[in-house]
Amino acid sequence: MPEHHTSERTLVVRRMPFVFNDDIDAQWNRAKPEWSYMVNGASLAMPYLEPYLIRTMKKALPKLKDPALIQEVKDYIGQEAQHYQQHRKFNDLIKSKGYQELNALEEQMLKEYSALEKHQSLRFNLAYAAGFESMALAVGHWLIKHRESLFGGSDPHVASLILWHFVEEIEHKCAAYDAYQAAYGSYWHRVYGTFFAALHVMKFSRRGYIIMMKKDGGWRKIGQRLNIIKYNLCFLFGTAPKLLHSLLPWHHPSDIKDPQWSVDWIHAHKNNSENLAYLDTNNLINPIV
Ligand SMILES: [Fe+2]
Ligand SMILES: [Fe+2]
Repeated sequence: MPEHHTSERTLVVRRMPFVFNDDIDAQWNRAKPEWSYMVNGASLAMPYLEPYLIRTMKKALPKLKDPALIQEVKDYIGQEAQHYQQHRKFNDLIKSKGYQELNALEEQMLKEYSALEKHQSLRFNLAYAAGFESMALAVGHWLIKHRESLFGGSDPHVASLILWHFVEEIEHKCAAYDAYQAAYGSYWHRVYGTFFAALHVMKFSRRGYIIMMKKDGGWRKIGQRLNIIKYNLCFLFGTAPKLLHSLLPWHHPSDIKDPQWSVDWIHAHKNNSENLAYLDTNNLINPIV
């Protein structure tokens, strides 16, 4: 879809100077421990999901003809590679706090993604990538809109990691979609890929946070279980409109306007990446300068 390509879509592969301290706490948002576990669960999937997306997009490259799209896909690969490496560092620290039970889940994710690559077509895997990216775009908008309530007062290292990740998910919203459209374009396979990817990733995230909450005792507490339900409902209702929009046959990710905060983040990064790796979580509501 060459008409969607403009120079403003140039992606920047950023190497962020994140530092995660050894004393990091699985409940990095003390006021919202259940939300912390949910984010940890999602983070756990990234070093398995994102390398799979990268391998899929690499396999799609020979099918693409538009030089601008080829470059966009290469930069997308660069961004995703940075994401999962940073999540790997964070996950290893969290795991070192005594969650060895997560090893079995990690093995399961490795196995399932290898099986998808081995037994499913490139069309399916690319539809998964495009579908996952539709979800990531919806999640990015939701996280940024509610950044104050979700990350306010939390550990700046973790808040900055997640918000950086989703600023870039918003920035590269078109790459997998356009690659899928150029290589295959079948509408119903894309719809199937979106549902499959969303449910698949949510399944892994949920297993991850349940393991951690069982270990820490929170899973047995009625208040914590109710909060988990509350955050899940907020997440589902908050992300559904944009995810459903992505299922329209005429949808293109560029139809969804980027939030001002992520646009500001990208501009701010040109001058200073140190501050963005350590956001002031007591002042998330104000624009980034
Ligand atoms: Fe990512
Ligand atoms: Fe992505």
